[in-house]
Amino acid sequence: MSFPVTRLRRLRKTPAIRNMVRETIVNKDDLIMPYFVCPGEGVQNPIKSMPGNYQHSIDMLVKEVKDLYETTGVDKILLFGIPEEKDEDGTVACSQHAIVPRAITALKEAVPEVMIVADVCNCEYTTHGHCGTIVDGDVNNDLTLKTLAAQSVALAVAGADIIAPSDMMDGRVAAIRNALDENGFENTPIMAYSAKYASAFYGPFRDAAESAPQFGDRSTYQMDPANSDEALREVQEDINEGADMVMVKPALSYLDVINRVKSTFNMPVVAYNVSGEFSMVKAAAQNGWIDEQRIIREILTSIKRAGADVIITYHAKEFMLNQIHSK
Ligand code: PBG
Repeated sequence: MSFPVTRLRRLRKTPAIRNMVRETIVNKDDLIMPYFVCPGEGVQNPIKSMPGNYQHSIDMLVKEVKDLYETTGVDKILLFGIPEEKDEDGTVACSQHAIVPRAITALKEAVPEVMIVADVCNCEYTTHGHCGTIVDGDVNNDLTLKTLAAQSVALAVAGADIIAPSDMMDGRVAAIRNALDENGFENTPIMAYSAKYASAFYGPFRDAAESAPQFGDRSTYQMDPANSDEALREVQEDINEGADMVMVKPALSYLDVINRVKSTFNMPVVAYNVSGEFSMVKAAAQNGWIDEQRIIREILTSIKRAGADVIITYHAKEFMLNQIHSK
């Protein structure tokens, strides 16, 4: 049917009718808020390149996560650690004394309602800032699997609800699944960063997590931004190895990949709206160049519309506070 019978503007006439036919609505259950935990007490260290985000010591993180939950209802967080000391292979992260396991223990006691997704990677914990153990100038895949598995078990023992490997080693989902199962954590899900690209959009995060590589870059393990067939193969591998959820990262320059992954696999798909995507919005807003709250809503809606079931985003708290206040 075409004009004059069809008039698509009929369903746009009023807010009520637009609200009625809206296809995509982002709500608190879709969102995961990332946090950075650091040593010390009473520390709330602003991250310059990510306005409104902080490195929190454990005591301050507990307060912040309580506030997140009480003011917005967001009940899922993703944790990254900044350790006291680093080493060659990330072993510092593999015990209950490590920064993230200690934070998880404290959070589980103070705000048990909040679900904790623990990022698993070595880059925050190695002196060289790469995601694994270096042999002959490159990250050695199979040696790295050992620390990833040990780190995952330490996080699960502390009480992590979901294990989220972000390292991009081959075979790591299987290695982590086996280690979790052997230690009695067969019911702990794995959220795999499956299609993670070697992206310039991670720049601000590396300031936040103090995890920039000291030589070279991550392009021998993270994906080439030009490829999307390869993303499907990465996702397929992770599903075969036991991933319960798969992730595409970053989000905005990869909406086509999110869409292909969702329509190919019909699995829960997570999208990571990363630090650089966040900081660009903040910078433009600080200059008065954009309507920030509308931009944030449009961005998150587009990620969900593309096919993401879950969005990891530094906008989570602010977005929900604004939804609540604009009602
Ligand atoms: C660790 C990790 C990174 C991010 C999440 N986990 C950085 C990287 O791969 O260099 C990036 C998150 C962001 O930019 O917000 N491997």
